[in-house]
Amino acid sequence: MNMEREEAFRRARAWIAQAGDHHIDGKRVAGSGPRIAVVNPATGEQIGSVAGGGAAEVDAAVNAARDCFRSAAWRDMLPATREALLLRLADLVELHAAELAAIETLDNGVPYPMALAMAGKGGPSAIRYNAGWARRLGGEEAAPSVPGRWHAYTVNQPLGVAGLIVPWNAPLAIACNKVSAALAAGCTAVLKPAELAPMTCVRLVELVHEAGFPAGAINLVNGTGPQAGAALAAHRGVDKISFTGSTVTGQGIMRQAADRVTRISLELGGKSPVVVFDDADLARAVPGVGMGIFANSGQVCAAGSRLFLHDAIYDEFLERLAGFAGSLKIGPGEQDGTMIGPLISAAQQAKVADFVAGAEAEGARVVFRSEVPDGPGYFSPLTILDQVHPDMRAVREEIFGPVLCVMRFGAGESLAELIERANDTDYGLSAYGWTSSLERAQVMARDLGAGSVKINGSGMEFALPFGGFGQSGLGRENARMGVLAFTETKAVMIGY
Ligand code: NAI
Ligand code: MG
Repeated sequence: MNMEREEAFRRARAWIAQAGDHHIDGKRVAGSGPRIAVVNPATGEQIGSVAGGGAAEVDAAVNAARDCFRSAAWRDMLPATREALLLRLADLVELHAAELAAIETLDNGVPYPMALAMAGKGGPSAIRYNAGWARRLGGEEAAPSVPGRWHAYTVNQPLGVAGLIVPWNAPLAIACNKVSAALAAGCTAVLKPAELAPMTCVRLVELVHEAGFPAGAINLVNGTGPQAGAALAAHRGVDKISFTGSTVTGQGIMRQAADRVTRISLELGGKSPVVVFDDADLARAVPGVGMGIFANSGQVCAAGSRLFLHDAIYDEFLERLAGFAGSLKIGPGEQDGTMIGPLISAAQQAKVADFVAGAEAEGARVVFRSEVPDGPGYFSPLTILDQVHPDMRAVREEIFGPVLCVMRFGAGESLAELIERANDTDYGLSAYGWTSSLERAQVMARDLGAGSVKINGSGMEFALPFGGFGQSGLGRENARMGVLAFTETKAVMIGY
């Protein structure tokens, strides 16, 4: 087992050291711009580099995607063939899960067991789920009431070339999802990884080719957001941008998309509420709430970062939560037993620390703060704050770090008032409730303002759409909706 793991890291290191080029029209392209360092956030060491693409590489990649999209081979490919190719891709991801996981751990810091769960289970499962839609995207027949004899129906046609912009917090999982949804719908695509953790995207594109997709179906351009990302979002040959990342960058993409009314899907930030009632099963709620904010060091768009705790269990819950947080081993993701890795970068580390310092200066109390390992990695203490006010920056803004803000409710407060407090956010990605009352569960499910509401649990289900209310985004990924988001609906009437 451990030898297998060591071997995976050895191979991952060797692969990273020589990969990092663009992949355009089925070929590796080094590009001309200065290369960007690939850094292991657990050590701060450079472990490789990626090409620094810009407008020229994006243009070549979009043209390759467009040529492939227009080709007879792609147009005439049977949906069943696309499905079969995607199923082969899922098998390849699964087969290479240990190596992919090691690459992810080295590049973005996620603990190896979590990376392995993504590469070995979550990723392949998402690809297989989307593969199934390739053959099930048919439209519907209408019964027109205009005079005459008509055959009236809809078709869901692929949009064309999709630009897929991926963030650094869970690159492989997000790329598996976006790539498979685009291909299932019949689009071709240009993938733009995050410059802070690009490597699993590059490996995934190699596997896309190994699976047998034609050259140009999926292209990859490395580079920074302002250079490669912006060039992709602005390109006239791109029909759809599917973006996951910060709200600010998403807003910029939305503005840019207005020029050509480019289709967009935006998965943005969150500040998701968690409500724990005094009738909750605390044995499940404590680790559920804890992992909901601390998993992936809080670098999760759907992290439950605002905890509303019932008066009657307030002290007990916080004590148990602190105990749980204290049991989570922080360290390099490569190390055996690590549950929490570093943050992605020194900048992210400073940003998180600044949020906490700001809250403390405004009177927040530190209920718990964990020890962090010494050394050069970008580790951040797991932090629980209470005595916070709803207008503090730490309560309003996405921290994207392991910081939980706790607020009290109970005594004389109605469920409606509580829900109003939980909904007091510009975001609306997810909301979580813990209770054994069917009544409270139903009311929370109905009234919490979020794209996903989970009662007594957390995690993601591909068969359900995922996306945000408010400033958490636009459109939905996953489920049938997520694949249809890469199509345009056409209405057809044939008179006879
Ligand atoms: P970002 O949104 O700038 O980066 C995400 C992706 O967008 C990367 O691939 C980046 O290269 C690309 N990008 C950046 N600028 C672009 C532009 N002008 N046009 C097109 N693409 C562009 O996020 P960043 O700056 O790395 O992280 C800052 C904060 O954003 C985090 O602290 C966190 O709060 C939030 N964030 C949220 C994510 C989520 O899943 N909700 C994911 C990543 C970041
Ligand atoms: Mg990195």
